[in-house]
Amino acid sequence: HDAAVARGKLYFGTASDWWEFQHDEPYTKQLNNTHDFGQLTALATMKMDAIQPERGIFNFTGGDTLANLASANGQHLRCHSTVWHLSTPSWVTAGNFDNDTLVEILKDHINRTVSHYKGRCYAWDVVNEALDVNGGWRESVWYNTIGPAYLPIAFATAAQVDPGAKLYYNDFGIELPSPKATAAQNIVKLIKSYGVRIDGVGIQAHTDLSGMPPEAHFELGSSPSYDETVAVMKQFVALGVEVAITELDASIITPSNSASLAMQADAYYNFTAACLTVKECVGITIWDWTDKYTWVPSTFPDLGDALPWDKDFLKKPAYNGIMKAF
Ligand code: XIL
Repeated sequence: HDAAVARGKLYFGTASDWWEFQHDEPYTKQLNNTHDFGQLTALATMKMDAIQPERGIFNFTGGDTLANLASANGQHLRCHSTVWHLSTPSWVTAGNFDNDTLVEILKDHINRTVSHYKGRCYAWDVVNEALDVNGGWRESVWYNTIGPAYLPIAFATAAQVDPGAKLYYNDFGIELPSPKATAAQNIVKLIKSYGVRIDGVGIQAHTDLSGMPPEAHFELGSSPSYDETVAVMKQFVALGVEVAITELDASIITPSNSASLAMQADAYYNFTAACLTVKECVGITIWDWTDKYTWVPSTFPDLGDALPWDKDFLKKPAYNGIMKAF
């Protein structure tokens, strides 16, 4: 984070569910290391299934734990995310609600959640992953019931509640010029066409270094070059939004070896260097910082070791890849 700030960026940060990990003292110590991390994102505790597990029952305990840690440490907070198909609670997905009712549910959730954290979030990922891997609309209860209008409705609601938070669209697979990146640019245009504010696009940068075909790991992006990431960032910026790398990790086949660790260092270097090149790239967030807690193996058992610190909290070549870019 110190190096990022020295190069004019707002932050380098990490995601965490400190709620779950606060018993792990060495973990907590590094999370509090503001020389490395000037920003925090909640991995799961600010999502809809965590905050509103039953209709009208709101629980901010987990998210508050992380938000309070960020405040105590003077770290920026990215808030993630009000609408995501995979964290939509079952009372919504199985509720068979009609259009009007679902619009009410959407607005109510955003109203309550964004107002709870009002003034504390540098940015809100208002909508996460509205697109499928090819750039078509992702089938979700929101899209299937409300249609694409759920995006401008969500952004308009958030804009009204917290005028100070940057409102982001966030997705994976948009790290390089591609049909999906073009579709994400169309989302920016769609929201603006309603006269609604969108301030940023979050480029997740969950990167698959396995060398396997993309279908093998449906929620990861392929590894782009520095030039490709700079090019796509400039495409977004041309639409009048800022960008951030919001969920950076680089998955390798486990167990790792020196060749895969070196490839991983290059991937971290490329993303960091691209963000440094593009003035409107405000910062970089890694998706947790230690291989001990990376989400990857729970979703893709053949992959893991995706982060810059190993399971014993020792710095890996990936850490040096980041620092080399600075
Ligand atoms: C993951 C978290 O890491 C897990 O802890 C949680 O259980 C499920 O979600 N893309 C995203 C993130 O936008 O929200 C996902 O995070 C990883 C993929």
